[in-house]
Order: sequence, then structure tokens, then C-alpha cells
Amino acid sequence: MFITFEGPEGSGKSTQIKMLLERLKQEKIPYTKTFEPGGTPLGQEIRKLLLHRPEPMAERAELFLYAADRAEHVKTVIKPALERGEVVICDRYYHSTMAYQGYGRGISLELIRNIMDIAISDAEPERVFLIDVPVEEGFKRIKTSGRDKDRIESEALSFHQRLREGYLEMAQKEEERFLVLDGTRSPEEIHEKIWDEVKRCL
Ligand code: TMP
Repeated sequence: MFITFEGPEGSGKSTQIKMLLERLKQEKIPYTKTFEPGGTPLGQEIRKLLLHRPEPMAERAELFLYAADRAEHVKTVIKPALERGEVVICDRYYHSTMAYQGYGRGISLELIRNIMDIAISDAEPERVFLIDVPVEEGFKRIKTSGRDKDRIESEALSFHQRLREGYLEMAQKEEERFLVLDGTRSPEEIHEKIWDEVKRCL
């Protein structure tokens, strides 16, 4: 089973992933937890280019770097884990590209979908947990955490608002795959909804 977590900045994805992993551990269900960008040694290099290089980057160069990270990740981490029969939990996947590079940057969704098809070679997530949070709320949380913003987080509020709307639109279009969770609810409440859904699918 292949599960991805998606959401705008500061949505609380990491907390939810941690809680789900604890639950899987308790139930002795084998899993692989991974993330994008950066879930492989090559991906770590690509992540640095994407997030920590201060110079501007052409939109399509950014798109191809995310795609390259993903192609390596699918081949060396995701597919092998799925073949071993593990539950794969991935923090961000191609719906992030649709949201950020598509709805956010304005690259055609059709073009992105074609590039994604090449990068993922049929590794489609079965469930996408979208943790939705108002953009202002997400950024308040990042500010409280005291860490510096990376290149993408530093984009204008309007960019982040577009991608949040994009996520919600994709969730509507792919109802059977997405579960939208209200990220302003308590972590426990969100976790129970996620766990009910994972149990149902397992
Ligand atoms: P994160 O590891 O903190 O989630 O950071 C990854 C950043 O990269 C986040 O701002 C979202 C962005 N991103 C894209 O723009 N496109 C993508 O395809 C992915 C996977 C992430």
C-alpha cells in the first residue's frame, strides 16, 4: 500500500506521519517512511539545489529537478519497498508538483502530468492524505518554530494561496484517492481519522 501526505506549508504533516508510524509499529505492520525532495543520496543533493540555493531558478528547471529527485526515489526506494510488501508512507509526492509548480508557478498541469508519468513509472499512491490549513495559520506555525524559511517558503503569500486552492481542487477531482483533513483540528482527532482510513484500506 502506497500512502502520501500532502499539504501547504505548516500543515502538520510531519506530526501526523510520526503518529501514524507509531501506530504501525504497535500493530507490527512493516513500513518504509520516506520523503521528497531528498529521499535518496542523489535526492539530498537535488534538495540542496532546490531549497537552499538563494539564486532564482527557471520554473521549468525547478520542475525537472523535482522530477529527477522523484525518478531516483521511485526506482531505488519506493518500488523496492512496495515489492517487499511494505506500507510506503511518503511525505510529499507528485501532487506537490501539481500544487506548487502547477497551481503555484503556473506551469500547465497537463505538461506536469506527462513529466510525472515518466518520473513515477506507474507508482501511483493509493491514498493521499491532504492536511489542509489556511496559509496564514501555516506560516504562523513556522514563525513560532523559529527556523529560517527556505527558497519555496519565502515565496509570496499569493503563491501559497494558489497552491492551497490547487490542492483542494485536485482533492475534489480525485475524490476516491484523497482524504482531506482539517489541519486546524487537534493532532489526535486528525490522527484517528487517518488511522481509521488506513485500517480500512489494509
Ligand atoms: P518540506 O520537506 O519541508 O516539505 O519541503 C519541501 C518543499 O518543496 C516544500 O516547500 C514544497 C516544495 N515542493 C515542490 O515545490 N514541489 C514538489 O514536487 C515537492 C515534492 C516539494
